[in-house]
Amino acid sequence: LNYTVMMPAAGSGQRMGAGYNKLFLKLDDKPILIHTLEVFEEDPACDGVILAVKPDERMQIESMLEQFAITKVVAMVDGGGERQDSVAACMKAHGKGGIVLVHDAARPFIRRTVITELVKVADEHGAAIVGVRAKDTMKYAEDGIVEETVDRGRLWIIQTPQAFRYALLKKASDEAQAQGFLGTDESMLVERFGESVRIVEGTYDNVKMTTQEDLLFGEILLRRKKV
Ligand code: C5P
Repeated sequence: LNYTVMMPAAGSGQRMGAGYNKLFLKLDDKPILIHTLEVFEEDPACDGVILAVKPDERMQIESMLEQFAITKVVAMVDGGGERQDSVAACMKAHGKGGIVLVHDAARPFIRRTVITELVKVADEHGAAIVGVRAKDTMKYAEDGIVEETVDRGRLWIIQTPQAFRYALLKKASDEAQAQGFLGTDESMLVERFGESVRIVEGTYDNVKMTTQEDLLFGEILLRRKKV
């Protein structure tokens, strides 16, 4: 079952505090962005990746792709002010239908087995997202004072990738953009239409490289991958 990836890579990485796009930071010998792209480069079911980049980083990324022999980036589009805008720009460049998979460039540790399952469920049901169960006790609070302890058994921590039939995500993305609705993930845009979204259980190591601590974790995960 083949799919195309919409990959937002146009963030500013402020929480990483590197002073430049965190995706350029190296884990071992390769930039984070390359580690993430390699997952799809190596998956025969991936037809291509549409990458949203910052206009002033385009050249640097192009030479990076060449240096690390990444061949599956079929288009590079200008990202937008919000992650959602960057994904919308990717969708605009893709008109082929099929299954589209949205994946953060900042999550290099996604496993192929999870991708395969996700794409299968999205193909069958229209929308599927990767999540893990909440391990800790979860509470609602207001100004640091507990209001309620929520039922952890029903809580999921949601990651990317998120996969959809093309027409469904296209409609949801277009509407959200037109109405100025800003979601924190693509699923939210689809949920607004009352569409049901299935969760595929993923793994806790699919961390988003966001702060310095994540880099340390990333180095450890890479070492594990090699043995
Ligand atoms: O900042 P955060 O890590 O949550 O962003 C998730 C992904 O979205 C990253 O890969 C980042 O490069 C991308 N992004 C984007 N355009 C934005 C903001 C974030 O493509 N305006």
